[in-house]
Amino acid sequence: MTERTCLAVVLAAGEGTRMRSGVPKVLHPVANETLLAHVLRAVGAAGASACVVVVGPDHDAVAKEAARIVPGAEIVRQMQRLGTAHAVLAARDALARGFDDVLVVFADTPLVRAETLSRLRAAIADGAAVAVAGFTPADPTGYGRLIIDDGRLVAIREHNDATEAERAIRLCNGGLMALDGRGALALLERIGNANAKSEFYLTDAVALANQSGLRAVAVEVEEDDVRGVNTKAQLAETEAVLQQRLRQAALEAGVTMIAPETVFLSADTKLARDVTIEPYVVFGPGVTVESGAIIHSFSHLTGAHIGEGAEVGPFARMRPGARMGKGAKIGNFVELKAAVLEDGAKANHLAYIGDGRVGEHANIGAGTIFCNYDGSAKHRTDVGKGAFVGSNSALVAPVTIGEGAYIGSGSVITEDVPADSLALGRVRQVIKEGWASRLRSLKAAGKKDRG
Ligand code: UD1
Ligand code: MG
Repeated sequence: MTERTCLAVVLAAGEGTRMRSGVPKVLHPVANETLLAHVLRAVGAAGASACVVVVGPDHDAVAKEAARIVPGAEIVRQMQRLGTAHAVLAARDALARGFDDVLVVFADTPLVRAETLSRLRAAIADGAAVAVAGFTPADPTGYGRLIIDDGRLVAIREHNDATEAERAIRLCNGGLMALDGRGALALLERIGNANAKSEFYLTDAVALANQSGLRAVAVEVEEDDVRGVNTKAQLAETEAVLQQRLRQAALEAGVTMIAPETVFLSADTKLARDVTIEPYVVFGPGVTVESGAIIHSFSHLTGAHIGEGAEVGPFARMRPGARMGKGAKIGNFVELKAAVLEDGAKANHLAYIGDGRVGEHANIGAGTIFCNYDGSAKHRTDVGKGAFVGSNSALVAPVTIGEGAYIGSGSVITEDVPADSLALGRVRQVIKEGWASRLRSLKAAGKKDRG
């Protein structure tokens, strides 16, 4: 069978005023990806061969995000909000090119799964002209009702236009739709706006298809697939559902989590099997953890790569560009940024390692700081293989510590240190014998004098 072509039309023109935010609604994140990005990835995974994103008149940021996720996406503007069918028709040129399937997806339903979109496409492949995602919400107020007659979907009635009897129907329109691509444009162009809101309703495609003797079907989906985000509270609820899904997927992939409900993941977090994550760990975007690594409690990781069997935390922070090799270790209150800790290297306590490299099996003592910033520019620190940096040292970048070198504790290192040497950059210790007891007797004498 030859592969069916599919056009996805993603409606992202929503205003989102109920978010009470200066940021367009579909650019809000869940699991560190925008709502729009989640939807675009799902349509891609459902096999869309082309994608049109319909944005509002002043939605340059939305257009930019769409292009970041799907570089080939076509961006069209809906200048006036005249209804969902009107919005889809902003993609008229693409629709006219003729696809096998057309998917219409709202950009504010980030939990839509590719499998669900594929089921809608399958209904079209099976001969339906229109396939609608139906679900049964606890409270159907506001949703379009699916009117089924003798197993056929005959119409969708919007809440405002529905009779009392129709409002009693529990099966609602989730908003996702697939259309037979060959007839989609003609069908959409027949939609009028004689209704309670004077809007061009996409949902009227169902009744019009039936009038032409074409078949429309409802495909039942889970509520999460069509869960829309209109408020910050719904954004938080959606985040919770997504976190649950991500944790479940990690557990199924062989990750050990003692208290998964306390671990926060990003949509792009990559965890190998036999990774252990202790309670209360936060994964920002761009983290990969290799097999056998342990992330101890209260660690915060972003843009980091953690090698096989490495150990992180508790209370560690990894920022973008942080990389740990096999069996490397960072302990409590260690921050790693744009720096590599090669295989077996260690920084067990209280250190800042920024813009540099720590060679294999080198040891960074407690309280070591890579002084990477001079107030205007960042500089690099390079610590050679097997070097030992004593506690409370300041390595003032740019600086290189040679392989196997020792740095005496409390040193301020401003010049390169040759391999296998000892560098001391601190004041020599002075001893004054008996000084303390002389001080105490002087004090005692003074007190007697004052009577
Ligand atoms: C729509 C459906 C309703 C369904 C519900 C599910 C229609 C007519 N109604 O109703 O049957 O139960 O979704 O959530 O389709 N949009 C535009 N341009 C417009 C109008 C809307 O881009 O001119 C976009 C919105 O940004 C949003 C989506 O289309 O992403 C749905 O619009 P919305 O106004 O939320 O429709 P509902 O009234 O909720
Ligand atoms: Mg809505």
